Amino acid sequence: MGLGEEWHVVREAYRRITRVYERANMLATLGKVDRWRREAVALFYSLNGRVTLKVLDAGAGPGNMARHLRGVRYVVALDATPEMLYVNDVADDRVVGVFEHMPFRDKWFDLLLAGYSLHAAANLERAVAEFSRVSNFQLVVSIGKPDSGFVRRLLLIYTKHILPRLVCLAAPREVCAEYEKIHAIVLAIPPNSKLREVVSRYATLITFREKGFGSVYIYLAKSTS
Ligand SMILES: C[S@@+](CC[C@H](N)C(=O)[O-])C[C@H]1O[C@@H](n2cnc3c(N)ncnc32)[C@H](O)[C@@H]1O
Repeated sequence: MGLGEEWHVVREAYRRITRVYERANMLATLGKVDRWRREAVALFYSLNGRVTLKVLDAGAGPGNMARHLRGVRYVVALDATPEMLYVNDVADDRVVGVFEHMPFRDKWFDLLLAGYSLHAAANLERAVAEFSRVSNFQLVVSIGKPDSGFVRRLLLIYTKHILPRLVCLAAPREVCAEYEKIHAIVLAIPPNSKLREVVSRYATLITFREKGFGSVYIYLAKSTS
């Protein structure tokens, strides 16, 4: 389960889009992209209050997820794409690496964040197992796949025909071409109910919410393995 060989194509896409990335994301999510990141981070604080945190931002990109943390924290950004890490001005340390084999000790982090990155895992189950191994809590916002066949078909129409055109309004042609790959991602990832099952093998789900009719999910979980 996961993108397998397709992963290299997706990774190449991220290389090219760093600069207009957030503008394009705003359009792709009809303005919701950062609201859903903030909602996820608020979930964690509602459970744990203001605590000192050692945080791993997995698939950190420019740091748009960790940016929302408050108080004293130490953030390590991990990403497979060095170009994304170059523009990350949020993390204290930056590591080039992949979810599936993370170079960290067991439970070294209090919290793992993954903002719009888990859907791009080459091996989803391996990634989730690693998230649980290295961290006590995991907070994930990601592209999902609705369980309803009808809603799923609408999402596939949106990602194939509308989303790339929307992104083209704000981004150069070669960038919106990269967003066409979201369609392939939605085709490849498991439905949200299956994703929940996979996460539950390695962690206890505290909250799992669907947004945008299931096109995005947010979950907070306490690692068990
Ligand atoms: C859409 S960006 C999200 C960036 C940021 N977290 C945010 O909230 O905007 C996804 C990032 O995940 C990284 N990524 C994708 N698959 C990965 C993997 N298997 N291991 C590590 N990083 C990965 C990509 O390089 C990219 O920088």
